[in-house]
Amino acid sequence: MDDDGPGRPPLDPEAGLPPGEPGRGGRVRWRLEVLEESPSTNAYVAGRARDGEAAGLVVAAEHQTAGRGRLDRSWVTPPRAALTFSLLLTPDEVPVHRWPWLPLLTGLAVAEGVERAAGVGTRLKWPNDVLADEAGAEAKVAGVLVERVERPGVEPPPGAAAVVGVGLNVTTTRAELPVPTATSLALAGAASTDRSALLRSVLEAFARRYDEWCGCAGGGLRPSYVRACGTLGRQVRVALPAGGALVGRAVDVDEEGRLLVDDGSRVHVLGAGDVVHVRPDRPRPGERMRG
Ligand code: BTN
Repeated sequence: MDDDGPGRPPLDPEAGLPPGEPGRGGRVRWRLEVLEESPSTNAYVAGRARDGEAAGLVVAAEHQTAGRGRLDRSWVTPPRAALTFSLLLTPDEVPVHRWPWLPLLTGLAVAEGVERAAGVGTRLKWPNDVLADEAGAEAKVAGVLVERVERPGVEPPPGAAAVVGVGLNVTTTRAELPVPTATSLALAGAASTDRSALLRSVLEAFARRYDEWCGCAGGGLRPSYVRACGTLGRQVRVALPAGGALVGRAVDVDEEGRLLVDDGSRVHVLGAGDVVHVRPDRPRPGERMRG
């Protein structure tokens, strides 16, 4: 494969996986496939899941031509400027009501992997965004899209599969970003933009957090998420799918990954599907907000 110029080398399938025995000691055994181009790695991995693929498949695309975001939005990134990948998981032992934790734990793993491999501190925006600071203002550096895939014909019956998609802007320039509310690791002052090392680091963090999630009801995961989540403790404006908004203080995330918002008269319990977006109602003193 050719290098696309300075700062945009291709992914190295060897360096993109955690070292040693893949998934050693954990529940997942990662197998990485790198595609030069794919419409959407989530759609591709969902197809593989329906065809009976085992958990642990990781598919990364150097370029997505029809990348999907939450709520039918698109996810657009130039070739080799981002990490766009999807994981296939079969968390059979986890009851369905706890699956909404999957995007949250993924965001946490991305935050941990990015901090470790690129030295960029991030905050999580419930439910599926990872924010980084660019020139004093917070902006979205990564998004997570988790999709549930039923696979009735697959033997032995493992129940549904989960496709966990991550889009992480790495070397994307300001001119290349689709919206002013987005940023990239390079724009946020990353010490390294090596995508293979970033992928490995995110997969390592994900495997740890996934084991915690599969093994216990919240456990160390929830307190870690609460610490990393910038939404909590803030006055927020929640845009609702039917129109209108709820304004209140984001006070907690419950055992089912739902956001608790106190509007002064009662606490509202919101699943990710109950909201269009959650934004700070006003900036903190000295804080700048993009877009
Ligand atoms: C969002 O912020 O709305 C979620 C964005 C998720 C984008 C990733 S890129 C890899 C995977 N394939 C897709 O089509 N979408 C996800």
